[in-house]
Amino acid sequence: MKQDMIVILDLGSHENTVLARAIRALGVYSEIYPHDITAEELKALPNVKGVIINGGPCNVVDGVEIDVLPEIYEAGFPVMAAGHDKALCATKLAQFTDDEEAIKEAVKGFVFDECKAETNWNMKNFVNDQIELIRRQVGDKKVLLALSGGVDSSVVAALLLKAIGENLVCVHVNHGLMRKGESEAVVEIFRNQLNANLIYVDATERFLTKLENVADPEEKRKIIGGEFIRVFEEEARKLDGIDFLGQGTIYPDIVESGTKTAKVVKSHHNVGGLPEDLQFELVEPLRQLFKDEVRACGLELGLPYDMVYRQPFPGPGLGVRCLGAITRDRLEALRESDAILQEEFKLAGLDKTVWQYFTVVPDFKSVGVRNNARSYDWPVIIRAVNTIDAMTASIELIDWPILQKITDRILKEVPNINRVCYDLSPKPSATIEWE
Ligand code: XMP
Repeated sequence: MKQDMIVILDLGSHENTVLARAIRALGVYSEIYPHDITAEELKALPNVKGVIINGGPCNVVDGVEIDVLPEIYEAGFPVMAAGHDKALCATKLAQFTDDEEAIKEAVKGFVFDECKAETNWNMKNFVNDQIELIRRQVGDKKVLLALSGGVDSSVVAALLLKAIGENLVCVHVNHGLMRKGESEAVVEIFRNQLNANLIYVDATERFLTKLENVADPEEKRKIIGGEFIRVFEEEARKLDGIDFLGQGTIYPDIVESGTKTAKVVKSHHNVGGLPEDLQFELVEPLRQLFKDEVRACGLELGLPYDMVYRQPFPGPGLGVRCLGAITRDRLEALRESDAILQEEFKLAGLDKTVWQYFTVVPDFKSVGVRNNARSYDWPVIIRAVNTIDAMTASIELIDWPILQKITDRILKEVPNINRVCYDLSPKPSATIEWE
């Protein structure tokens, strides 16, 4: 890493990630480290230009007052700290929590005048650095990557491809629960356009068979996650000479993993959990990036806008939106209604303002009338939410005419559906997904 770096020492302030992002937005790289880092460890970090000590209220974490080691002040770097000689203090920063501009103003003088940091943090430099680092780590060995088509795995794939070309082996597992056209897009972009070494596994039958008659949401999630790992593992065993596993770990995963105490509401699905005897060294080239930086990196690497700005999609895919025991006809109705929703939101420009939007098909029917005859069919439920961190979410107010157009199209184009409903529930009490 050749970029200058401002180190933030974490005294328990929730604003540290906002602060790091603001400094990066000034064009200077910044990372967060634990408060008890030693001067020696600090000096060993590359290109440190200055240190910001940013505490929570009175630097108290879980009732215990904490502080940095006194030797940090003698380590030879400019230090900005709450209660010390510098103008800025944590409480001042805390007032600006959501205001990146205000934070930038507050730290600008320190970063540029005192630390003399240069604005050399940008995606071009990042990509070039990472290519060099990946080549150094991997040499002429092979890297295996589970390419779901999500933002993080796609950007990792593009970056690894640039660094090691055909020594990257991507595996795309289509579990049959992808949105319309999604697996096809992964094959088209990575295999056909970028010439990636891509193994495409259509495991639709296998997943749907396993899921037959399984109605419990947690059970469904476990089956999908477990089966995913088994399919991926089988592919991995067929390959020779793989030493590395690429992963789309990003900076919030790293920062949060130390502090997260949240209870498990739903078991999330990720590619971890490979068997012990399949041991790979990890390659995680995005581990320093925030989500918006991952997107910028994807664009820098030439990935299409739609792929890079794709809305979040749960690992278990449509499986948790086709409620109860999944049936093929309801799954198809879900996929088609979702495609209509995606299309119409895009046309109305809502894809730029709404964080996540999708349809859900429950496992109950209601009575309707079609062509002068009684129908007994499923409803489609539309969900559209905005959120900052997915922990809480509010519903989006969508203009009636747009909802009416979507409703008309779903009722006309999707078989076996006779009603369209709109979900008005915030999170909490609901979750974003229905299962
Ligand atoms: P909930 O439904 O818990 O979801 O409010 C919060 C956000 O997480 C997404 N989600 C998942 N993402 N694997 C993922 O990678 C999963 O298993 C998973 N389940 C939910 C959900 O779409 C929402 O954005």
